[in-house]
Amino acid sequence: MTEKRISAGILGTGWAVPDKVVTNQDLTRLVDTNDAWIVERTGIRERRVAEDMPVSELAYRAAKMALDDAGTAPEELDLIIVATLTPDRVIPSTACVLQDRLGATRAAAFDLSAACSGFAYASTVAGQFISNGMYRKVLVIGAETLSKVVDWTDRNTCILFGDGAGAAVYGPVEDGYGLLSFDLGSDGSGADVLDIPSSGSLNPVTAQTLAQRLNFIHMDGKAVFRFAVDIMGKTVESSLAKIGMEKESIDWLVPHQANIRIIKSAAKRLKLPLEKAIINIEHYGNMSAASIPVALAEAAHAHRFKKGDIIALAGFGAGLTWASCIVKWAKED
Ligand code: UT7
Repeated sequence: MTEKRISAGILGTGWAVPDKVVTNQDLTRLVDTNDAWIVERTGIRERRVAEDMPVSELAYRAAKMALDDAGTAPEELDLIIVATLTPDRVIPSTACVLQDRLGATRAAAFDLSAACSGFAYASTVAGQFISNGMYRKVLVIGAETLSKVVDWTDRNTCILFGDGAGAAVYGPVEDGYGLLSFDLGSDGSGADVLDIPSSGSLNPVTAQTLAQRLNFIHMDGKAVFRFAVDIMGKTVESSLAKIGMEKESIDWLVPHQANIRIIKSAAKRLKLPLEKAIINIEHYGNMSAASIPVALAEAAHAHRFKKGDIIALAGFGAGLTWASCIVKWAKED
């Protein structure tokens, strides 16, 4: 292990979404809802649905794009972390599936479970390995096919979620750039507020749990909303406080895309004009662990960030969990 901490930052980004678009209008054929309600209460107009595609396919496409963008060969990767709540299978990890498909012959691989906070959690983990000098190149992916765990007869949830994947290659960057700070948190007392009740050893899938539709996402939307409006701004404030940075220093907020009202409230608390928040919820809905990296990658490839910009990534989700990272953008445009 080296003595000096190495600055770890983003070398390249990528994203992928399925082609199939499901509009709010399409959903009115499945549940009692309407476009006006969904747009006003959530900001969502449409979402992507993977249909037959497994999550590893979306993750693979996002990863390839990020590796190309970073100029990194798969053989250079030391580690692959996939943040997901919709893996291909419980075992093997989706990260292992990717390791093989990418030809990342030297890489260790594991999945990380922190729901919608997963990408910020995984980015923080990647940063530790690079900063202590043990690893040089880490691929972090947030990927979801939530359409496969959503109850398409439940209007409280099916309007919200979508499928996609975003990826970032982390590696050593110029001193003082990259990941500057982070805040990770959990409150397991809120475990039942947002869960898939029959999905593991607590309540294994049986004919009965399937009949009760317990293999789908269940959510107390109001409880999650209350938690989210408080935590999203608060976690960024905690990350900033650790490095003595003021809110005014933030150039961009890349928030978890759960609800436009939650994003607006976080931006207000951080005294950030809404134009400084990267928002794509209108087109993709809530892609859980993929929300932040897809927004980040789209913005990066649209040349919205310049070297030295201070970017706050902020997420919250099932667990309950929350996470934020402060990143000083290290890439030359
Ligand atoms: O990644 C984290 C995951 N989850 C979240 O972040 C979700 C956080 N929560 C939310 O975003 C919001 O709570 C929702 C968007 C889920 C719901 O919005 P809300 O403003 O909290 O609505 P509500 O649940 O209080 O429902 C208001 C009304 C109810 O009717 P009544 O009782 O007032 O007559 C609902 O039955 O709207 C009705 N409603 C709907 N109407 C049309 C609920 N869902 C729908 C729907 N279409 N899809």
